[in-house]
This record gives sequence, structure tokens and C-alpha cells, in this order.
Amino acid sequence: MFDLSSVDLLDVFTRQLRLCKLRSDEHVVVLAEPDSRGDYVAAAFGAAKACGAHVIAATVPGGTPAPMPSTHTGAGPGLTSVLNDTTAQDLLKSADLVVDLTREGFIHAPVQQEILRAGTRILFVCDAPEVLIRNLPKEEDKAEVLRGVELLRRSSRMRVRSAAGTDLTIQLSGSRPEFQCGFADDPGRWDHWPSTMVLCWPELSDGQIVLAPGDILLPFKEYVREPVTLQIAGGRIEKVGGGADADLLTTFFEDSGDTWARSLSHLGWGLMRTADWFATAMYGKDELMGMDARAFAGNFLWSTGPHPVLGRESYAHLDIAMRGCSVAVDGTEVVVDGRLVDDARPTDG
Ligand SMILES: [Fe+2]
Repeated sequence: MFDLSSVDLLDVFTRQLRLCKLRSDEHVVVLAEPDSRGDYVAAAFGAAKACGAHVIAATVPGGTPAPMPSTHTGAGPGLTSVLNDTTAQDLLKSADLVVDLTREGFIHAPVQQEILRAGTRILFVCDAPEVLIRNLPKEEDKAEVLRGVELLRRSSRMRVRSAAGTDLTIQLSGSRPEFQCGFADDPGRWDHWPSTMVLCWPELSDGQIVLAPGDILLPFKEYVREPVTLQIAGGRIEKVGGGADADLLTTFFEDSGDTWARSLSHLGWGLMRTADWFATAMYGKDELMGMDARAFAGNFLWSTGPHPVLGRESYAHLDIAMRGCSVAVDGTEVVVDGRLVDDARPTDG
């Protein structure tokens, strides 16, 4: 049924596809699984038509290769039905733009890289409608995150500290700095709506991370209740100390049986000023992937498990979003005490 909510979604999806620079001669595939939101499929389909583009809505069987339920975890393992079907892959490769409305997306599935190499751009969408609307990106967001990427590219070291006791040094050499800006406008680009963040894939980091109450553990979508101290050596979590939250993380690492569960994956900082730290508390877990937490302006986001730069395939993916950190890249502070430094400037050291 077409209703007032549908009007809002059609409007915001149309604005989003324009940010993706969708042209009238291009082909859009709206990819869904049976549990995808039908209103998003309709909105993406209608938005593509509003832009004058060709559009196909494709629904493939659900089912994940990951050993955990598809609850918008952010692990991005893809759907088995696509991973095993070259016809589905060929359809996606032949599209100019794929609007990925599956529950988990494909970001950590190697097949996605093949699709992107064909020049297809992919936009992944799975947070709640209000989250999408509130965090609709602006065109200028891309220039801002690119400045962060350039800073990482020309730098050798990132240091993260917090009053809670975090002091982590990250070696940036070979860390392939990247960004998310919430729209996919370049050929072969994947992006996630909503998101505004700068990240990289380092191999080596050393020191300690101390999670403070209020930090957010994903994919659990839970706030940390008591401090957790993680000792990091050579990019690997060697020791976890603390109370119940520390036990939760330790159990996750052990139960996963995954070689890379304790190894750090991407890390970086968020720049999404419209993000709401309380979204995690205000929605049901099935309604969110949690991009408000992951991309919150001035957060420090770090993760574990899959690492495409080092060829590590892993389903054991944690994203942990921290507030109150200071992030310095060589001599430039980009986040101080959890707040973005808008005009990042060199410091004394
Ligand atoms: Fe992640």
C-alpha cells in the first residue's frame, strides 16, 4: 500500500540515487532476499524510475554462509544463493548500480570485489527509515573524508589515546586507507548508506585499548557497562581483562574457532555529525545495523577478523565504537577527546 511513509522513502531514495550520480541511460539492480524490507525495494525501484534509469528488482533466496544469524550484524558475508550462482553474479556485474537491500550485504565476501571490478557501483542499505533520512549524506561529505584518506596515505603512524587508558600505536605503512561517504558515485565503488568515516587496514598495532562504559559493541548492539582492557601486540589481541563485557568478548573469540578472531581488522574515525549515539538504545536490534554507532562523528572505530589487504577471510567480525578518544595521525590531531578537529592542524609532537 502506498502511504505517507512510502512518500518519505521514495523521496529520500531518489535523493540518494542522485548522490550516486545515477544517469537515465544506466541500469539499476535492486537486490533483495525474502526478508528484505519490501518498502525499501519499492522505494529503490521507484527512485531509479524517477531518475529515468532502467531498473530490475531481483529477489534471491536468503541464507548465509556465516555461522551466525543474519541479524544485520555488519559482517557482510553475502548470501549463499549469490555466492553459488554465477548467473546472479553476472546480473550484478552487468548493472551500473546495485542497491543492495540484503540483510547483511557482501562487503566481506570476496565475490563483491569481482563485481566491483566490473565497474558496478554498489550501495548497501539496511538501517531503519528514520536513520536513513536523518543521516542522508551531503555531496561535500566525500571531500571531507578524502582529506582524511590523504592524511593517512602520507603518514606513517596513528596514535589513539583516551582518558580511560587507551594508548594504541598503529603502523600505517601498507594499510590501504579508505573512506565511506554514504553514497556510491564512482565506477567500481561500494558504499554504505548511512556512513561517513575514514578507515584503514593496518597489519601492526601495539599498546592497549580500554573500553569505557557507554562504548558500543557490535554486532551485539550493546553498550559497554564496565571497563575492558585489551592488550594488543603485533595487531593481535593478546589479553582481555575486565568483568562481564570482557567475558563476552573472550567467549566470542573462543567460540568462533576462527584463526583471525583476535586479529585487528579495519580501524579509523567517524565523521557523521547527524549520527545519534543513543540509536542503539532506542531501536530493536532487528531494525538496525548500527551505523549511527559506527560512523558517529569523533568516534574511534576498530574491528577484528576479516582483512582483505592481508588475505584473511573470516566471519568473526566485531566492530567496536568508542567515544572520548583522541586520534593523532603523525603530528596531526583529527579527533580530540571524542570531538572532531574540524581544521586538523600539526601539533608539536
Ligand atoms: Fe566492520
